[in-house]
Amino acid sequence: MQFGNALVSVLAVISVVYACGGDGHNHAPHKRASVPITRPNRPLEWGDLNIIHTTDSHGWLLGHQKTSSPEPNYIATLGEFASFVTHMKALAKEKDVDLLLVDSGDLHDGTGLSDGFPPGGVDAHDSNKFMLELPYDLMAIGNHELYIYNNTLDMYKNFAPKLDGRYLSSNVNITVPGKDGRAMSVPVGERYRKFKTQKGRQITALGVLYDFTGNDKNTTVQSPADMVKEPWFAEAIKDQPDVFLLTGHMPVSNDDWPVVHGAVRAVHPDTPIIILGGHTHIRDCNQPDGRSIALESGRYMETIGWLSAKLDKKGNTGNITFSRRYLDTNAVTYEYHTGTSSRTFDTSLGKSITQGLNKLAQTFDLGSLFGIAPQDYFLSRAPYPSNNSVLTLLAQEVLPVSLAINNSRSSIPNVILTNSGSLRFDLYSGNFTKNDQLTVSPFTDAFLYIPNVTAGVVNMVLPALNNAGANQRREYTERETELYRRGYVDMKYRAWLEDMAARTSEVEKRAAANLTLGYVTKDSCPGVGDDTSHAPLPFFSTPDFIGSTPPSVPDDTPIDLVFVDFIEDQLLGILNNVQTSKNYTVL
Ligand SMILES: *[C@@H]1O[C@H](CO)[C@@H](O)[C@H](O)[C@H]1NC(C)=O
Ligand SMILES: *[C@@H]1O[C@H](CO)[C@@H](O)[C@H](O)[C@H]1NC(C)=O
Ligand SMILES: *[C@@H]1O[C@H](CO)[C@@H](O)[C@H](O)[C@H]1NC(C)=O
Ligand SMILES: *[C@@H]1O[C@H](CO)[C@@H](O)[C@H](O)[C@H]1NC(C)=O
Ligand SMILES: *[C@@H]1O[C@H](CO)[C@@H](O)[C@H](O)[C@H]1NC(C)=O
Ligand SMILES: *[C@@H]1O[C@H](CO)[C@@H](O)[C@H](O)[C@H]1NC(C)=O
Ligand SMILES: *[C@@H]1O[C@H](CO)[C@@H](O)[C@H](O)[C@H]1NC(C)=O
Ligand SMILES: *[C@@H]1O[C@H](CO)[C@@H](O)[C@H](O)[C@H]1NC(C)=O
Ligand SMILES: *[C@@H]1O[C@H](CO)[C@@H](O)[C@H](O)[C@H]1NC(C)=O
Ligand SMILES: *[C@@H]1O[C@H](CO)[C@@H](O)[C@H](O)[C@H]1NC(C)=O
Ligand SMILES: [Zn+2]
Ligand SMILES: [Zn+2]
Repeated sequence: MQFGNALVSVLAVISVVYACGGDGHNHAPHKRASVPITRPNRPLEWGDLNIIHTTDSHGWLLGHQKTSSPEPNYIATLGEFASFVTHMKALAKEKDVDLLLVDSGDLHDGTGLSDGFPPGGVDAHDSNKFMLELPYDLMAIGNHELYIYNNTLDMYKNFAPKLDGRYLSSNVNITVPGKDGRAMSVPVGERYRKFKTQKGRQITALGVLYDFTGNDKNTTVQSPADMVKEPWFAEAIKDQPDVFLLTGHMPVSNDDWPVVHGAVRAVHPDTPIIILGGHTHIRDCNQPDGRSIALESGRYMETIGWLSAKLDKKGNTGNITFSRRYLDTNAVTYEYHTGTSSRTFDTSLGKSITQGLNKLAQTFDLGSLFGIAPQDYFLSRAPYPSNNSVLTLLAQEVLPVSLAINNSRSSIPNVILTNSGSLRFDLYSGNFTKNDQLTVSPFTDAFLYIPNVTAGVVNMVLPALNNAGANQRREYTERETELYRRGYVDMKYRAWLEDMAARTSEVEKRAAANLTLGYVTKDSCPGVGDDTSHAPLPFFSTPDFIGSTPPSVPDDTPIDLVFVDFIEDQLLGILNNVQTSKNYTVL
């Protein structure tokens, strides 16, 4: 990506600042002081059994470092989270209650810390070591652990053994050579775990992945519906614990948790069941019945989920009082809930984790500077097309410039098409580094071209691609279902943002003018879930496919139709629809 002019002008500003600063020492302001962060609106409600929940961290272990709102809400590092957990454990001890720490998977794919490894490395191999420094009681496998066999193998060989029975993959196997050299299929971690809490509560835990089909060869995912029919499952849930902890990488709404919950309920009508899910990257909660609750805790280390239960005696059948909360991940939140101050908050474990992660960032050269973004560019907070849309930036500026470099066809007019899903995150103003590239635009795409298509035909392709869905609703729904099963969840996350923005009336928006931006959650559990009050982010829907500005040439001019290889099948289908003089096929 190139930001030529902006680079020059911003560098000029920086040199002025340094000139004013005088002594030339490092003036990096303390993170907590440099950005406005809103305090939580009320203390947490503790129960007898309390759980801190993370999910879909995707390598976001050094916090969200951009200063544009809402990123500072999520500025805390994994080290600061570790300090939080340490203080919370001490509070639990003081209150004489249980506190568990649970993760619901997707440790791979998301930032330079996980994805910036040198050639020959394995994704998240190094960043995952820092997760192991936290006292997790349970971790479940996610679909992002399964796209590449070597990643799964790393979890099986190096990660799961360190968790010593606490890494759960109830319905996920890996195929490895056995002692005799013959291939054998074995669970990546454990299928279930039975353990006693500090306070002596008996827990039976599972780690279930949703019915995922995008996994690599030599990994196996069994559907939850088939899993609950397995003899091992019946055996695992046979004895009645104090609580069933159904963790796993499966959304708490509109997926297969009812299948698993129902299978347990059929045997144990009154045993408390706590579900800790993930995968759709949203904050969500519901109660399958009066003695169960299901919580999902967002994404990218933006949210820490809190769940507490006031448990009653075995044999009781009345409703259980649960409470849930979605915490923004920043030191203001952490200090508020632990009664610490910036002086007493950081623990030596926390500091060493952050130091280690910073060192990893250095080793991977994640600060390596490509350019400077003059402003924020958004995926869904700005309309498309617009000057604030990162999709517009990609289609109209980045692709035409970068694909023209060292390209013998650069003098031939073209139209470049890509899918909007090729970008993963907003692009915020300031330094655009290797880490930002891996975060915003992680996919190494190949671009293909078809020469000699007339401009008139080319110009029909993009609208036809985007309308294909609207015109053929049924086919579209089928495609969405297929994409969902292969692991694509952006549509669910965006639908959540859209609902959040739509729910807030103009009046409320004005009243909320003083609130910082952030998530405004409405779920199906009693009371307010968000720990900090925010105004919702604006939301604009964007097309599935985007394109560069067409050249101004007559309709019969032959031009190049350039497109990302990922959309080849759909594009050829459409191209053969909008014209019939030639049958285009894959070579
Ligand atoms: C997987 O890892 C092995 C050894 O660690 C390596 O030889 C192989 O090239 C890797 N495969 C891929 C597809 O990265
Ligand atoms: C699967 O794993 C087995 C055992 O390691 C190996 O022999 C086989 O070639 C693998 N299959 C594929 C498709 O990678
Ligand atoms: C998973 O591994 C276990 C143990 O080898 C085996 O019994 C089971 O059939 C495998 N399950 C699947 C779905 O492959
Ligand atoms: C118990 O919880 C269920 C499910 O949340 C709810 O429908 C029911 O009204 C509750 N009963 C009482 C007595 O609160
Ligand atoms: C977008 O940027 C272009 C070029 O700088 C400018 O001409 C145009 O007015 C801007 N549009 C909006 C809506 O700001
Ligand atoms: C263009 O190609 C030449 C020769 O292969 C190479 O030296 C140069 O670095 C390339 N320039 C860019 C910007 O990629
Ligand atoms: C931006 O990059 C420059 C050059 O690498 C560096 O000196 C500066 O500290 C960076 N700024 C921030 C906010 O990281
Ligand atoms: C483009 O079409 C023209 C006329 O049909 C033909 O002469 C030319 O060879 C074609 N060029 C390519 C690259 O296919
Ligand atoms: C917003 O802040 C301004 C300035 O601090 C204050 O005058 C105003 O009352 C606040 N509005 C609300 C709704 O809190
Ligand atoms: C186009 O070519 C493909 C592959 O050869 C063929 O299957 C298809 O029937 C052809 N379509 C038309 C309309 O000729
Ligand atoms: Zn995820
Ligand atoms: Zn996932």
